[in-house]
Amino acid sequence: MLSATEISSERLLLRKTLHDADREGFVELMTDPEVQKYIGGPRPRSEVEQRFDALITANATSSPGNYVIADNTTNQLIGTLMLARRSADNPGHITQDGEELELGYVLRRSAWGAGFAFEAATAALRAAADELPAQPVVLVTQTANTRSLALAARLGFRPISTFEEYGAEQTLCTAPLFMFRNRADT
Ligand SMILES: CC(C)(COP(=O)(O)OP(=O)(O)OC[C@H]1O[C@@H](n2cnc3c(N)ncnc32)[C@H](O)[C@@H]1OP(=O)(O)O)[C@@H](O)C(=O)NCCC(=O)NCCS
Repeated sequence: MLSATEISSERLLLRKTLHDADREGFVELMTDPEVQKYIGGPRPRSEVEQRFDALITANATSSPGNYVIADNTTNQLIGTLMLARRSADNPGHITQDGEELELGYVLRRSAWGAGFAFEAATAALRAAADELPAQPVVLVTQTANTRSLALAARLGFRPISTFEEYGAEQTLCTAPLFMFRNRADT
């Protein structure tokens, strides 16, 4: 798993540490119906506040592969990125044993349309390509989530199959990790 605690790019800082000041952005991410449309729906605010408290206490973005995406001038949370392992218990794999490196991303609605998700994903994948052995990366997104599929395609992921999970059709995409070596952010 990627060991970096911070990853920098032109406009962003990916950091593993969650700050008290991230609360408002985190709550907005989890409660915004548009942001959550294809990833399980908006959560109740009280539940999200409790989860944030638990994460801060456990410093749980230190859980493997989870990063806050922050603006590198204000340090304000604009989203989160995950580059972790896809559990063999979930459907949607390209290797026999599963546990592939899996990319996920969520941005605040106000941060869409500026290339921030592309920049954050490129920086994280580049850092992973520098550190980890060559391997495939997977990305799973609802087929109806056209913004996410467009981002996957821009990053160089190719769709390879579809399957049902959480009551919806999901598209499984993949890209070789080595492809992100020395890749520019923008
Ligand atoms: C999926 C998601 C992260 C995509 O965000 P996004 O901002 O569309 O993605 P990108 O970072 O690639 O930005 C691309 C847009 O920025 C524009 N852009 C502006 N400056 C740019 C730059 N310097 N570089 C690249 N793109 C730039 C592009 O033209 C494009 O605009 P368009 O969508 O109007 O055509 C976002 O919609 C989201 O958070 N959705 C909710 C969570 C979710 O569904 N996640 C998927 C789970 S796997």
